[in-house]
Amino acid sequence: MPRKKFVAGNWKMHGSRAENAALIEAIIGTVTDDRVSCVICPPFVYLHDAWRLLRSSAVALGAQDVCAEAIGAYTGEVSAAMLQDVGCRYTLVGHSERRSMYGDTNALVARKFVAAQSRALIPILCVGEQLAEREAGHTQEVVGAQLDAVLQLSGVHSLGGAVLAYEPVWAIGTGKTATTQQAQDAHAFIRSLLVKIFGEAVAKKVRIQYGGSVKPNNAKELMSQPDVDGALVGGASPIGGPAGVSARLPASAHDANATNQMSRIAVEYLTA
Ligand code: PGA
Repeated sequence: MPRKKFVAGNWKMHGSRAENAALIEAIIGTVTDDRVSCVICPPFVYLHDAWRLLRSSAVALGAQDVCAEAIGAYTGEVSAAMLQDVGCRYTLVGHSERRSMYGDTNALVARKFVAAQSRALIPILCVGEQLAEREAGHTQEVVGAQLDAVLQLSGVHSLGGAVLAYEPVWAIGTGKTATTQQAQDAHAFIRSLLVKIFGEAVAKKVRIQYGGSVKPNNAKELMSQPDVDGALVGGASPIGGPAGVSARLPASAHDANATNQMSRIAVEYLTA
C-alpha cells in the first residue's frame, strides 16, 4: 500500500487568536479530504483554541516542541501530558531551530521523543545537516547520529510509530530548496537505515517528510520522488492562498501565507 502523504505546517512564533482563526477556517475549508494527513503546529498558547476549531475536521493538531520531563519544577516548559490534554496528536521534536538556538542536543531530542510517545503523541522527528556538514560530505553521518540517538534511548520499535522529517538546515527559511535528487538521496539513506533496523516491511511504512522552503510550486516535484512522503512547511516566501484568505489577513501575518501554502501543497498532493 502506498504511504499516505503527510503535510504539516510549522507556524513557529507567528499568529494571534484572530489571525489563527481566519487561517484555520481557510485550511479546513481547503483540506476536506483525509487522503493526505494534515497537521498544523501553532505556538503552545494557541493550541487549545486551534483544537476547538479543528476538532471535527480532517486536520490534526501538533505542538512545536515538548518537554523531556513528565512533571515538576521546569519553568516555561510544557509536558507531553499537557499537549495531549489540549488535543494534540503530534509534536515536532528536534526542529533545527531548537537544536541550534536552544541547545537541543541529540540526547535531549531523544528524551523528548520518548516523552512524546509515553503519552501517545506521534513525534515528528526532525533531522538534517548544516551547510558546512553537507559541504564536508558528512550528511549521512550527521543524520545517522541524530536517528541513532533516538533509537538508542527509545528502542528499535519506536521509530516505526513516528513520522520523520528530513530538513537540511541550509534550506530552512532560506528559499533554497534541496534539489529533488538531494532530497531523494537523503530520504533513501534514511529509509535504508530503517530497513537495516526494522526490515523492509516496516521501513516501507514509515513516512519521511521533506522540509526546507517547500512551496506549492516545488511540492509536486519533491513528492514525485519515491521516498519523499510529504512536506513540513514553515514560513518561507509569502505566496497567496485560496482567494480571499490573504485579503482577510493582516500583512504582518507572514506565516499565514505559508500555512496557506501548506493547504495548497496538500491539495497538490491530492490532485497529483
Ligand atoms: P521553511 O521552514 O518552510 O520556512 O523553510 C521549514 C521548517 O522550519 O520546518
